[in-house]
Amino acid sequence: MTPRHAPLQGGGARNGRDAIMRQVRTLGLLGTGVIGGGWAARALHFGIDVVAADTKPEMEAWLRGAVANAEGALARLTFAPLPPKGKLSFTTDVAVMARQADFIQENIPEQLELKQRVLAEVSRHAPADVVIASSTSGLMPTDLQRDMTAPHRLLVAHPFNPVYLLPLVELVGGRQTAPAAIAAAARFFSYIGMHPLTLRREVPGHLTDRLQEALWREILHMVNEDVATTGELDDSIVYGPGLRWAAMGTNLIYHLAGGETGMRHMLRQFGPCLKWPWTKLEAPELTESLIDKMVTGTQAQAAGRSIRELERLRDDYLVAIQQVLREYNIGAGATLRALEQRLYESSAAAARARIGGAGGGPLRLLETRVRPEWIDYHGHMTDSRYLQVFGDATDALFRYAGVDDGYRQSGRALYTAETRVTHHAQARSQEALYVTTRVLEVDDQRVRLFHSLHRSRDDALVATAEQLYVHVNTATGKAAPLDAALRERLAGIQAATR
Ligand SMILES: NC(=O)c1ccc[n+]([C@@H]2O[C@H](COP(=O)([O-])OP(=O)(O)OC[C@H]3O[C@@H](n4cnc5c(N)ncnc54)[C@H](O)[C@@H]3O)[C@@H](O)[C@H]2O)c1
Repeated sequence: MTPRHAPLQGGGARNGRDAIMRQVRTLGLLGTGVIGGGWAARALHFGIDVVAADTKPEMEAWLRGAVANAEGALARLTFAPLPPKGKLSFTTDVAVMARQADFIQENIPEQLELKQRVLAEVSRHAPADVVIASSTSGLMPTDLQRDMTAPHRLLVAHPFNPVYLLPLVELVGGRQTAPAAIAAAARFFSYIGMHPLTLRREVPGHLTDRLQEALWREILHMVNEDVATTGELDDSIVYGPGLRWAAMGTNLIYHLAGGETGMRHMLRQFGPCLKWPWTKLEAPELTESLIDKMVTGTQAQAAGRSIRELERLRDDYLVAIQQVLREYNIGAGATLRALEQRLYESSAAAARARIGGAGGGPLRLLETRVRPEWIDYHGHMTDSRYLQVFGDATDALFRYAGVDDGYRQSGRALYTAETRVTHHAQARSQEALYVTTRVLEVDDQRVRLFHSLHRSRDDALVATAEQLYVHVNTATGKAAPLDAALRERLAGIQAATR
């Protein structure tokens, strides 16, 4: 496992408006409902401890359940080496939380006066270098920071449900917010796998909720006037624009809709309809009859499936979509790719530091766990997953030796030429495993590795793999000499892992 390596924050002079914000090891949560639970799951998964505060003691059980529910989807999101999970504790005393936290995220109900009162109280207990962020869906940070001690560290950090899978977090500063607080928050959120989007200035509803509300207002009108049911309106998104929106927003998509001249042509063609306009700006009255239509419509769409069942389905496709987008390095997939890159690099750096002083023997570079979906009909890890695990161990070794994205982008790579696997014992679902690796041979163009896969609980040997790699020029696809410095590092590893 990678050791903890929480992000460094800050910049500027201490004690002023640009005070250095502290390193985040412990996240304090204020309010542990749907959004607080999502923050807890995400932070714990990426190795941050969480101290959660809620006025209702019964929320502890709810919170632990929410974290457990999120685990399956989070575990499938990336196989990159993660730091050890964070630890979760719960309190009903806001002051206890505020004194322990390095960063506080507020997630209490959307009422301005309540938030103002509680944020002011928390700010009296939390040291001035602790950033305090609010999950508010639409309130203005200038209003939220009004009664706070050290209001310069307050900002809005608006996430999206489920917080543990959606990377977007909108960052909004108020009149008194220090730029250093926003920069520190952005670094922390990136560290836990998110995409911080910093707003140029505060506006009610931030960016996304204004867009979502415009759509929702129109839905309410159309349902109210029996133009369409909730299901038909959802179909009008799901089968069309929704698929585009996962990777390209409305503006870029409309640019494509304008043909060769792009947005200019699009505006000429469709601009006049904006004046009609097609849509209504004011929300309809929420009458009992409209509420009934919305509720019966969505119940029909749920077709007897519980909220939990639908959440699982939603989580599964959110994981799958992000993995596909990662291949295209676009949108949320680009965020996932950047996160994985950092995790692999931290893991290689931690291994170098650990092994640097440890002397010889095989390198233990990969820790993993048998995922439930790796299991065959006998309840054992299936054949193809052995290749995956050994492939990951090879990647870890090459990264350790300095083969990184820069090396690959220079048109050089190591391709697999031969793999021989032997099986010795079984690994079952959820079994913790580790791989040790030796370099058997390095020459001008070839590297031969030997991996041993072990069960963590008793160190039993589960399987071995001997693999031959050929160094190639990726432009010609032909074997080419290894980079001299890389060859030297691999020879050093060979000598040390004999
Ligand atoms: N639900 C969403 O989809 C969503 C998305 C993004 C942002 N938000 C925002 O996140 C915030 C929380 O929303 P939610 O949906 O999680 O609400 P929720 O009702 O599920 O949870 C609120 C929690 O706050 C606790 N609480 C109330 N007063 C408290 C106090 N004084 N101290 C500590 N805890 C207190 C409640 O007991 C409850 O557990 C709101 O500002 C909301 O606008 C919600």
